[in-house]
Amino acid sequence: MASDLGAHLEASAEANNVPSDQYLQQLLQQCPDTASATSELKRLSEHAFDSSTYQETQLAPETRFAQYIDRRSQGEPLEYILGSTPWAGLDILCRSGTLIPRESSEIVASNFARTLAQLQSEGVTKPAVPVRIADIGTGTGCVSLLLHKSLHPPDSTAPSGQSLEILGGDISSDCLKLASDNLEQAVRVGAVSSSARDDISFQFLDMIKLGEAVSQLDKHITPSTIKTSDATSMSFLDHKWDAMISYPPCVPAADFLPGGRVPYSDRTYQPKVAIVPPVLADGAMQELEVDPADVFFYILLKVALKAEIKVTVLEVCEGPQATRVRKLAARLMPSDAWIERWRDEMVFAGDGLAESDLVDVNDDAVRGRAVVMWTGDWAEWRRKNPRNVA
Ligand SMILES: C[S@@+](CC[C@H](N)C(=O)[O-])C[C@H]1O[C@@H](n2cnc3c(N)ncnc32)[C@H](O)[C@@H]1O
Repeated sequence: MASDLGAHLEASAEANNVPSDQYLQQLLQQCPDTASATSELKRLSEHAFDSSTYQETQLAPETRFAQYIDRRSQGEPLEYILGSTPWAGLDILCRSGTLIPRESSEIVASNFARTLAQLQSEGVTKPAVPVRIADIGTGTGCVSLLLHKSLHPPDSTAPSGQSLEILGGDISSDCLKLASDNLEQAVRVGAVSSSARDDISFQFLDMIKLGEAVSQLDKHITPSTIKTSDATSMSFLDHKWDAMISYPPCVPAADFLPGGRVPYSDRTYQPKVAIVPPVLADGAMQELEVDPADVFFYILLKVALKAEIKVTVLEVCEGPQATRVRKLAARLMPSDAWIERWRDEMVFAGDGLAESDLVDVNDDAVRGRAVVMWTGDWAEWRRKNPRNVA
């Protein structure tokens, strides 16, 4: 139960013998400004004094509150302390060991959902025929849930909801457990339709194994990256996927070192396996003419090609990577494929651009956030409909 911040602060300050504005100062060690520190203070206070979570630790709320402030001021992400984050209208459970969903992924996945809805409204897909979607590197399962919520809304009458089959694959058992918990919670609170329990499955899947299956990459893989063969990865290519979405680990290894571009908090508390791709044997990426940070994009593009996936959405970490991955896609894909880049909306926020402007096909000067490949009859459709309906 949320209650008054001032009263909590006073109670806490008194119990812990700390001046109440000291809490704010502590949070300012991590927060960029007073407004965000105040907002975090409020959320931490509400969480500490929420009577429904008393049993978790059996600590007095004042003690818990002080501990939360300490943890946060040392850099632990707010989402891990609170145990969840609002994301795309969902309450997504968060635990250490699993990447906290990013705002950029919400933008990309929402645009993908709108695109798939457009395919249905124009008769390219039929509501009764399941659209089969692979969400590779599912993490918390947030993207799978967002797609289900958008395409088969919980309050929709049966005929208007799109039938779906969604696989959320990940190499991490922590992620798979959390994704299942998120699915259960979303159904329980009515955020997604109960049919999601049948439509979505979270399963072990190793992108490296997929890469081995589709290319000569295996000869470059170092022993430390080789996992035992698994059924899901091997059968993946036999399944007729319509669509694939992934935000794979894609940050250069050097950026994860102290002093690199990955912030201290992410480096210390978020899982490296979710952020940095594995290092392949010396020279492998040069031979393939692929930047080492882009190894999973290479694999996923090869998989998309081999499995004849009709649309593949690849979220990238930054603009120059979007340019590289777009070129890589153009090099690997058949001539009748359609390739586009979705803008990083955050860069353009405030320019008054409509949702439809998220799609940009050719302009290399535009900062990209996702590269999208269309093949087969869906590519033909896309060529005639190059922008989303706003
Ligand atoms: C950048 S996170 C994206 C998570 C989620 N899709 C999101 O948007 O929040 C990348 C995910 O890929 C997973 N991953 C890393 N290596 C993998 C591999 N070889 N095969 C499958 N998944 C992998 C990580 O565990 C992590 O959950």
